[in-house]
Amino acid sequence: MQGEPFSDELTKRLARARSVVVLTGAGISAESGIATFRDAGGIWSKFRPEELANVEAFLANPDLVQGWYRERKRIASEAQPNPGHEALVTLEAEIEDFTLITQNVDNLHRRAGSRNVVELHGNIARSYCIDCNASYEEQGEQSEPDLNAAARCEDCGGLIRPDVVWFGELLPADAIEQAFQAARRASVCLSIGTSAVVYPAADVPLAARTNGAYVAEINVEPSAIAAMLNETVLGRSGKVLPCLVDAALQARQSMNQQAS
Ligand code: OAD
Repeated sequence: MQGEPFSDELTKRLARARSVVVLTGAGISAESGIATFRDAGGIWSKFRPEELANVEAFLANPDLVQGWYRERKRIASEAQPNPGHEALVTLEAEIEDFTLITQNVDNLHRRAGSRNVVELHGNIARSYCIDCNASYEEQGEQSEPDLNAAARCEDCGGLIRPDVVWFGELLPADAIEQAFQAARRASVCLSIGTSAVVYPAADVPLAARTNGAYVAEINVEPSAIAAMLNETVLGRSGKVLPCLVDAALQARQSMNQQAS
């Protein structure tokens, strides 16, 4: 594909693939207007994670932490999925075994229509009571009762927290299990819009590579693990992904026609 930022090899591998695993990070939602964490102007350049994103901070100052997440939830629910999210929906429809693993909590993959989504760091659309575990989930476009100051559980009066993984907390065990099983099965892995400095998420593309997958990342700059992958595709995911998926699906169609 002359002129494209990705190789013919990647296009062909994706065209032939039966099992694909994708890892996404904040970069895929950047073109939807949601700030990343570590870029200039990113979330962690403005806020100290230790003040907001951990359970001690929450218990010490639930109003502040709930208020901050209420604002992030508003930004996420007002944002729209972009062509990068949509290209992954198109790809999923064509691949027998497709797993989308995301570190994002913004719910944009599900809202775009992705089905087999593994959320490693939770989902801001859900929350739960820290005492009785009752869950509060956003239904479609309707939002749950606002997490306003010191929002409390309707059942037991306990504090309600967002269902996201905070610093010092374990990732959901079932999500890790699904993610690494998918990485081991995959023949192609795409790592998209992640700085790949947070583990175990950053191990997903590496596990796929170790197990023989062709692994490409799509990012505006090489990530921390770029040197260990097969290919780095430089560009914005909202631009690159639709082109890559189109090219691969066209190649797939020609291969199928030749075979029949
Ligand atoms: P980061 O903010 O660390 O990295 C975002 C990546 O996206 C960077 O490598 C950017 O170069 C890239 N990027 C920016 N715009 C892009 C675009 N339009 N197209 C493609 N790439 C683009 O975000 P994550 O890697 O997702 O964890 O961060 C991982 C975790 O760190 C987050 O899930 C969060 C944070 O602490 C928790 O909250 C548990």
